[in-house]
Amino acid sequence: MRASTQLVCLLLLGLICSPAAASHWFRIPPHEEVARVARFIVHQCDWASLATISTHKPVVGQPFSNAFSISDGIQGLSSGVPYLYLTEMEISVQDLKVNPNASLSMTLAQTDYCRQQGFDPQSPLCARVILSGSVLPVNGSEARFAKQALFTRHLEMIDWPSGHGWFFAKFNITQVWILDYFGGIKTVSLDKYFHASPYRKYL
Ligand SMILES: *[C@@H]1O[C@H](CO)[C@@H](O)[C@H](O)[C@H]1NC(C)=O
Ligand SMILES: *[C@@H]1O[C@H](CO)[C@@H](O)[C@H](O)[C@H]1NC(C)=O
Ligand SMILES: *[C@@H]1O[C@H](CO)[C@@H](O)[C@H](O)[C@H]1NC(C)=O
Repeated sequence: MRASTQLVCLLLLGLICSPAAASHWFRIPPHEEVARVARFIVHQCDWASLATISTHKPVVGQPFSNAFSISDGIQGLSSGVPYLYLTEMEISVQDLKVNPNASLSMTLAQTDYCRQQGFDPQSPLCARVILSGSVLPVNGSEARFAKQALFTRHLEMIDWPSGHGWFFAKFNITQVWILDYFGGIKTVSLDKYFHASPYRKYL
């Protein structure tokens, strides 16, 4: 084994074994690899802000932003598709019944990253992603994937009251917007987004 390989192995072990680093052991990809950064943010964040078009008085027809737990896959296994666990008793889900079009945003300000780096949440260096699309219920094998993705990262969901009509849904992305550096917001094609890996290649 070469010395450099040994070093990488030691580093990996250290990262895996350190509880504090366990949830952050994948480092952010280089900022110019925007598709990878977008996938990284979506995978790291456990929740997102979901904006719907409100159907509720007195703000009918106006944007309405609300926090939701999300997961695009169990830790370390990212699909790029944010899954949600919803009930029609929820105010934003009632909006989605009338108009499923929505926007979902996530920022590394939700992780320790921006604070540790000293980046203000509004700094372009505190990377964030804004997804446009719609929220669609999922069923069959995709619902099974969503359940595993969500329940492993949001343990209390298992005990949420069964009478509330919970169902699995996905955010069906039509446009990816990413701000991860100076020079303004960028877009990433869906093809590039879904083919990118959020993880740094160590070996
Ligand atoms: C949702 O967005 C799509 C694409 O932008 C648009 O064609 C559709 O009319 C919108 N649906 C509603 C209910 O506004
Ligand atoms: C899943 O839902 C889609 C539409 O949302 C429907 O066409 C399909 O038949 C459903 N599949 C199952 C297994 O229920
Ligand atoms: C889901 O997103 C795809 C793009 O990825 C789009 O072509 C499709 O129309 C969307 N489906 C719905 C029901 O909005």
